[in-house]
Amino acid sequence: AAPGWAIDADVVVVGSGVAGLTAALRCAAGGAKVTVVTKAHLDDGSTRWAQGGIAAALGAGDTPEQHLADTLVAGAGVCDEDAVRLLVTEGPDAVRRLIATGARFDTDTAGEILLTREGGHHRRRIAHAGGDATGAEISRALIQAVREAGIAFVENALVLDLLTDADGRTAGVTLHVMGEGARDGVGAVRARAVVLATGGMGQVFSATTNPAVSTGDGVALALRAGAEVSDLEFVQFHPTVLWLGPEAEGQQPLVSEAVRGEGAHLVDGDGVRFMVGQHELAELAPRDIVAKGIMRRMQETGAAHMNLDARHFGARMWQERFPTILAACRAHGIDPVTEPIPVAPAAHYASGGVRTDLHGRTTVPGLYACGEVACTGVHGANRLASNSLLEGLVFAERIAADILAGRETAGGTAGTAGAPGAPVPPAGAAGPLLASEARYEIQQIMSAGAGVLRSADSLAAAAGALERLRTAAAEARDRDGKTAEPCVETWEATNLALVAQVLVAAARRREETRGCHWREDRPERDDAAWQRHLVVRLTPQGT
Ligand code: SIN
Repeated sequence: AAPGWAIDADVVVVGSGVAGLTAALRCAAGGAKVTVVTKAHLDDGSTRWAQGGIAAALGAGDTPEQHLADTLVAGAGVCDEDAVRLLVTEGPDAVRRLIATGARFDTDTAGEILLTREGGHHRRRIAHAGGDATGAEISRALIQAVREAGIAFVENALVLDLLTDADGRTAGVTLHVMGEGARDGVGAVRARAVVLATGGMGQVFSATTNPAVSTGDGVALALRAGAEVSDLEFVQFHPTVLWLGPEAEGQQPLVSEAVRGEGAHLVDGDGVRFMVGQHELAELAPRDIVAKGIMRRMQETGAAHMNLDARHFGARMWQERFPTILAACRAHGIDPVTEPIPVAPAAHYASGGVRTDLHGRTTVPGLYACGEVACTGVHGANRLASNSLLEGLVFAERIAADILAGRETAGGTAGTAGAPGAPVPPAGAAGPLLASEARYEIQQIMSAGAGVLRSADSLAAAAGALERLRTAAAEARDRDGKTAEPCVETWEATNLALVAQVLVAAARRREETRGCHWREDRPERDDAAWQRHLVVRLTPQGT
């Protein structure tokens, strides 16, 4: 639909988590006219749900080199080392600037930042706030700073598509806005630079730690705009998500790795610590290894979940160090002070996304991406715990510097290490709008066929079911002239279907097991064939 209203800005930031708000603040501080648009309210994204914290070499004796080494090991051979090096060297100062912006981290009595451990980290390196409410504090501080800086924002604004000028350069975005008075309906923000910071796509699966808004909108927009997307097959499943029964759906409560970092044990139904002996770090092995350890033990014992035992923390430590998790467990009738917590893996983080270079530029000039929506190359096949808030900060700042230097006309040359693989077969970009009920079907299809365990057969079944969903909607449109009503729910379902199709295509193509991509039919890592990225770009008309 043609935009009914328009706002003019230099920069439009799409999304309001740590990455989006940092980009907005830094661009505005440099004199750019910024508008932030966000699908729900400013604090409704994933950032505010982050528990464990933000990783940076801030502690005595720690160094960026050690943080680099841990990140590369977790990434299982496909991190872009230049990107990781920037992350770990610029990270500590970026955290200090976040503190200067107003975020309050937990400190000891001398005022030194307290640091915890999480999976894959050989040192205490994770700064946290409010015990286990780090994201909420970062979100609070950044929103306050954005308001104080007078940065314009539009809420309830679902981004639709990229606007381009006659030369194919970015010229803004179109939006579907609900309940914002004069700005209701389809409108546009016209801007020479667009920063995508829309977060992840966890809602593509039926059980996830992600909030309901994480529907892959940014990746879908980028695909429709012809930008390159990379590494979508690497979906990280968090090992310890509160298990609420076999039928649980939607956002599930996270039990932070920091609980294991402070000494909790993973045990099976007989109380046996099954991670001991599987990896030198046992419960604190990188996340993919712990998730696989849990899944294997569940298969061996026929149990629907494993248990996390932290009764030895005692009531006081639980209350002071993990108040959010304690409250979530108790709200579901589990008291971690007196009983082990039932846990199982659930979808948590998209390690892949819109492919960028070291300045956050995508392959479409003027279109940037940062945070979970982006694939900067720092995460490889498996993100190291608590590197995501840091990535959002560091690359948002790099994007702001690039825009303020007037370099947004340069298209990104993404991929700093390792040749990109050939594109996977593209899924169609120009499919019909799907009914909102399709969301549930997509989630069922994806959890059954493309979840923590995958195989050629399960992925083929998922690909077929997704294609049938799209074909049925196209046939209804062509035969009866019936299409779904354009609204947030139908756009979200359509975006989920597109990203699901591309994710499944990439997962079928990568015929090996690496990081969080676990193919039961290809259990070995195959460096000769697959130590590289899988890059997807859709043809403008789709297929
Ligand atoms: C957690 O607290 O376990 C989550 C941290 C992360 O996903 O990086």
